[in-house]
Amino acid sequence: MCGRGWRFYEWPGQRAPCRVIYLLQWLHYKRRFHPIYRATFVPKRPAGIPVTLPLDARSGATLQRQVYDGLRAAILAGRLRPGIRLPSTRSLAADLAVARNTVTAAFGQLVAEGYAEARVGAGTVVARALPDDLTKVAARLALDNGTGPARNRPRISRRGRSLSAARVCCDFPTRGPLAAGCPALDQVPLDLWGRLAMRVGRRLGRELLGHGDPAGYPPLRKAIAQYVAVSRGVRCADEQIVVTSGSQQALFVASQVLLDPDDVAWVEDPAYPGTVNALRAAGARLVPIPVDAEGIDVRFGEERRPAPRVVAVTPSHQYPLGVTMTLARRLELLRVARRARAWVLEDDYDSEFRYSSRPIPALQGLDQDGRVIYLGTFSKTLFPALRLGYAVVPADLVHPFTAVRSVLDVHSPVLEQAVLAEFITAGYFERHLRRMRTLYAERQQVLLEEARRHLAGLLELAPSGAGLQCVGWLAPGLDDQIAARAAAAHDVDVTPVSRFALGRFSRPGVLLSFGAFEPRQIRAGVQRLADALRDLRDGGFADEVTAGRKPEPTPHRKSASA
Ligand SMILES: Cc1ncc(COP(=O)(O)O)c(C=O)c1O
Repeated sequence: MCGRGWRFYEWPGQRAPCRVIYLLQWLHYKRRFHPIYRATFVPKRPAGIPVTLPLDARSGATLQRQVYDGLRAAILAGRLRPGIRLPSTRSLAADLAVARNTVTAAFGQLVAEGYAEARVGAGTVVARALPDDLTKVAARLALDNGTGPARNRPRISRRGRSLSAARVCCDFPTRGPLAAGCPALDQVPLDLWGRLAMRVGRRLGRELLGHGDPAGYPPLRKAIAQYVAVSRGVRCADEQIVVTSGSQQALFVASQVLLDPDDVAWVEDPAYPGTVNALRAAGARLVPIPVDAEGIDVRFGEERRPAPRVVAVTPSHQYPLGVTMTLARRLELLRVARRARAWVLEDDYDSEFRYSSRPIPALQGLDQDGRVIYLGTFSKTLFPALRLGYAVVPADLVHPFTAVRSVLDVHSPVLEQAVLAEFITAGYFERHLRRMRTLYAERQQVLLEEARRHLAGLLELAPSGAGLQCVGWLAPGLDDQIAARAAAAHDVDVTPVSRFALGRFSRPGVLLSFGAFEPRQIRAGVQRLADALRDLRDGGFADEVTAGRKPEPTPHRKSASA
């Protein structure tokens, strides 16, 4: 087929000089050894973390000793962490302007002494397990390096101290069954999400790589405006949407924009800690207002509390009690807010999942004079790590909100916003919501049935008309903090309602989440909770639990074996 000299292969549509073919075949054969082939075809290992070492030519120590000492000190101080790959001897030698042999010898010594391990094909890595006596030295070095309580360091601000007193309110998905806070992460259409990301990246390319609009990616603002108008009855133009990093950032920005230090903010009691934290961070004076069967008791507030500058509410599904604010109460709230010239923060965090009745339109839609700031999030409808939410703000607040947003972090990642915009406009969001609504309704049913079967006399479960969790009211005599600790000892995770109380709320109850758990997990969780509460009621391990110690695991009763 191919003679001598520069003739061509006759493949349909392809021509290549024969000598090149021979060369490639030979290189292929020699591929493990040949530098040209390796350089061209073999994917390179990442170069390893660049390391800076202070070498002093005038010091009495040899360069090899200095390289060894520098790396060892970095390992012991934790700057080079266990398992991390050291740079190649070639690149480190080049960076430090020393002979490669010097670095090779220093590495050899680190390996010989157990600080590092030489891995075939992976270079040299910091040892995963450092001997005990070495780690003690590490702890001492860490203190000396200023990461511990040093004498002479400046203090953080009063604001910094008060902010760090806030309780961090994330719920981590690694927690046990019935833990509140997360949607069903295993149901997120990740493959589709990945495909959309590819499609969006290919279509928009570099357009997505520069700085974006601090108010949000315009097609996403448009998609959100359409969505909230149709499904939540929110009245707004596209320009009134400010995309935020979750609704937590919207709460923070709103509090900064709307409140001066010592302004009064009415909060529901009990309340979502994220709201409390954001209001406190703005220096607001928090005034807890009780929640009754119709929602926040505005008349109580009006009669007995100072007039508010801001009222923060969760009308669709009060957090944590689950009450839906009635229409009459909504109108009353707006009337009171108008009289006080107050803003209203409407946190509509999980209203998409409504089971017992048709979705109730947002408070914002009833507002006649532009005082309601509506907040939404994709943390419940999609997944919390997405960190995308939004505020629907009156037109004259768009600029202040956007300005604070740009001071904080400029804007949310544009690629994620673009993928989400595509997800909504292509109809996938609606479809996902419909599927999840059915799934969550079934899961709540399982929880209610299991609770009827196993928790009678211990805990009364109130069915939830919306959201991903229910409140269980404990039998008289059971304390919710103690009950939650007892449950944790049985590997089931319930959140005491009293944790969210600011003032006078005192009925002991726990939050049980059904959204993130499969029926078998819900069944096992309820049975274990029943064991825990029964033990508590009958006086078993009460002392350890009250003292906050985890008791020895007791064998689950027969019913808990699932
Ligand atoms: C009442 C309430 N608001 C808002 C959020 C969502 O916060 P983010 O959007 O910051 O994840 C949650 C999440 O648990 C919540 O419970």
